Amino acid sequence: MKVAIIGQGYVGLTISAFAGEFFDVVGFDNNQKIVDQLNSGISHIEGVESSVLQKWIKAGRYKATTSGSDISDADIVVIAVPTPLSKDRQPDLTFIDAACRTIGENVKTPVLVINESTSFPGTLRNYIKPAIEKYSATPVEHLYAISPERVDPGRGDYNQKNTPRLYAGLTAEASEKTRDFYSRFCDELVEVSSPEVAEAAKLFENTFRQVNIALVNEFAQITNALGISVYETLDAANTKPYGFMKFTPSAGVGGHCIPVDPTYLAAVAEDHGAPATFIRRANDVNLEMSKYVVDRVQADNGGSLQGKSVLVVGVAYKPNVADVRETAAELVIEHLRSAGAVVTWHDDVVGSWRVESSAPLSGADIAIVVTKHDSVDERAIVASAPYVFDTTGKIKGVKGL
Ligand SMILES: NC(=O)c1ccc[n+]([C@@H]2O[C@H](COP(=O)([O-])OP(=O)(O)OC[C@H]3O[C@@H](n4cnc5c(N)ncnc54)[C@H](O)[C@@H]3O)[C@@H](O)[C@H]2O)c1
Repeated sequence: MKVAIIGQGYVGLTISAFAGEFFDVVGFDNNQKIVDQLNSGISHIEGVESSVLQKWIKAGRYKATTSGSDISDADIVVIAVPTPLSKDRQPDLTFIDAACRTIGENVKTPVLVINESTSFPGTLRNYIKPAIEKYSATPVEHLYAISPERVDPGRGDYNQKNTPRLYAGLTAEASEKTRDFYSRFCDELVEVSSPEVAEAAKLFENTFRQVNIALVNEFAQITNALGISVYETLDAANTKPYGFMKFTPSAGVGGHCIPVDPTYLAAVAEDHGAPATFIRRANDVNLEMSKYVVDRVQADNGGSLQGKSVLVVGVAYKPNVADVRETAAELVIEHLRSAGAVVTWHDDVVGSWRVESSAPLSGADIAIVVTKHDSVDERAIVASAPYVFDTTGKIKGVKGL
């Protein structure tokens, strides 16, 4: 069996690495640099070991490609391309459309098409299937299924194998074949009654996180106004053995999922005339946190940041990964620069970002910790500036949320 995986990023490469044990895998990506790197056995994704890639390449079971014709003899095609927001913060399915074109133009015999990209309910049925049919020169009866990806890059305890996987096909045959595929490398498969349920469940999982993060971010502002510690209060609430789940405040949410997926849900809700005010407000609260942090820092520093050197510590969207997509650090830096601060950032895991490089962890007037990687020494952060504001709750003895 040959599996073609369209998109060799966090999701697609992770699946490729697991699938390589059981299938011949072709990783199709339109980025030549990534493809060349992968074919030389170097992984660019946290959690995918280069040694695993090299093992499959050596065994002739993995090849990356930019050529659509390499997927033409696949039995299964998995879509794992980005689903971002457009400039006006609407669902942007242009990458999905391009993947459908690649499939339509190259796959001439019936295959199982599985979508792993996150999108709104109805995407598989009303968008992917018609798009592939539109791009196919002659009609092909493919099978279609959805199995939303739940991978959490950089996480050690849960991975492809032990994270239960939702799935549903457009037909019973598509569901059965999808189950066969994933059951090789996933311990637990959960079939739902329609692709729309699987698509909606994935969006709701991330919306649940988004609104709870927004709630705790608002709560941090309330506890600060009341003069009590948000962390102590949360720990106290967390002693309740049921009905409570602890989330922690931050400078905002980042990554490709939590700041994006809820907007897909809100957009489809509003298209169907259902309100999504709660989801929209949660998004705003999280986006506003960066300004709140900068306002707090400014208030602590004589009411002005004009000309002050400010070091933002950690620009990745979460600890121990190099991923900067939608990072809260970006808005923090923007607000600092608007306030007249001279901003540099330190993050040796990220290295370079927005044509700037990681600065030394020292010599600033003010340091603001947005993300704390395990590799960064806490004492070095404390020594990096006379005033340190920590948004992570991990640094002892400094100002924070
Ligand atoms: N990263 C995560 O933690 C995560 C978790 C669950 C779900 N998802 C979802 O999975 C999907 C993929 O996310 P990701 O994080 O892997 O993205 P990514 O940006 O890491 O990788 C996407 C890859 O697709 C390639 N690509 C873009 N357009 C292409 C095309 N037309 N043909 C072939 N390749 C193309 C890019 O070059 C890139 O290498 C998104 O819908 C995302 O919401 C991501």
